[in-house]
Amino acid sequence: MIVPEQDSEPQLSLATLDALHQVSYREAGLILLPEKVRMVQSRLRYRLKETGIDTFESYLALVRTDAGARERRMMISALTTNVSHFFREPHHFDILADEVLPKVKARLKAGGRFRIWSAGCSNGQEAFSIVMHLLDKDPSLLDADFRILATDIDPKVIAFARSATYPDRMTDNVPETLRKRFMQPTQLKGQPAHKMADACRNLVRFKELNLMNTWPMRQTFDAVFCRNVVIYFDAPTQDALWPRFHNVLAPDGRLFLGHSERVSAPETVGFSVTGPTTYTKTRSQPINSLNLKAIQGETHGTS
Ligand SMILES: C[S@@+](CC[C@H](N)C(=O)[O-])C[C@H]1O[C@@H](n2cnc3c(N)ncnc32)[C@H](O)[C@@H]1O
Repeated sequence: MIVPEQDSEPQLSLATLDALHQVSYREAGLILLPEKVRMVQSRLRYRLKETGIDTFESYLALVRTDAGARERRMMISALTTNVSHFFREPHHFDILADEVLPKVKARLKAGGRFRIWSAGCSNGQEAFSIVMHLLDKDPSLLDADFRILATDIDPKVIAFARSATYPDRMTDNVPETLRKRFMQPTQLKGQPAHKMADACRNLVRFKELNLMNTWPMRQTFDAVFCRNVVIYFDAPTQDALWPRFHNVLAPDGRLFLGHSERVSAPETVGFSVTGPTTYTKTRSQPINSLNLKAIQGETHGTS
């Protein structure tokens, strides 16, 4: 009898899935629900092959240890969903150009900075869409102190983003006029592709960063894009992020989330809603564990 191929492959039990969930949750805030068992099994089978491990139980034993730190990163990389595309949810780019940019112009003219953070940037399409949109509206930004920080937990997407070379099927959403101005035709693995022009690449710095860890940046940002990232986190993890985003924003800075993401009770963490999934920082004082309760009391009218 021929044994169907999948039967000879390692099987992931719900108990092991739950134990892997505890690792991925602690490491990256990622939740692995029981209904995702098949997806997790198929994504991690490749890791088992790569590491020469026969069972999910042995794999779990490895990623639980200190010695398994590297493989833990590879596991998180395999589990993250990196879907992105150029000019996704474009209304945010208009808000950036029409509302944020005019306010920072005076500062730029006086030699000041304009900083944007793409947090959970995947392959870099979000950061380069911002660059193309803003340079199209205001080419003088090329001579200003304007930079984008783009970060992601997944080292594979960061390496891809740094190459800034996209197969043509990934550039479908780039308007032809912008593609001609800001991208150059090239080849990627023998396929037609486009590479971002150096002028655009020089404006973006790609870095590996786990949002669950300490953020090393000392500067503040005029806008933070964290879109289609927190959807993979549970409510407590999301709620712990809002004050942190508040604190890295400059006064009047914007936080942009994905279409199905919301800041719960935005006014209690120093934001007001100023557009579709768009939040503007309204409080100048940093929010920390000491004053968070008092602010929440204030906004709920109990103080
Ligand atoms: C669906 S993509 C969103 C990309 C882009 N922001 C967009 O909207 O098109 C989600 C990204 O979040 C990243 N991510 C997930 N958990 C993360 C964490 N704990 N820290 C940093 N990035 C994370 C994933 O690696 C993935 O590239």
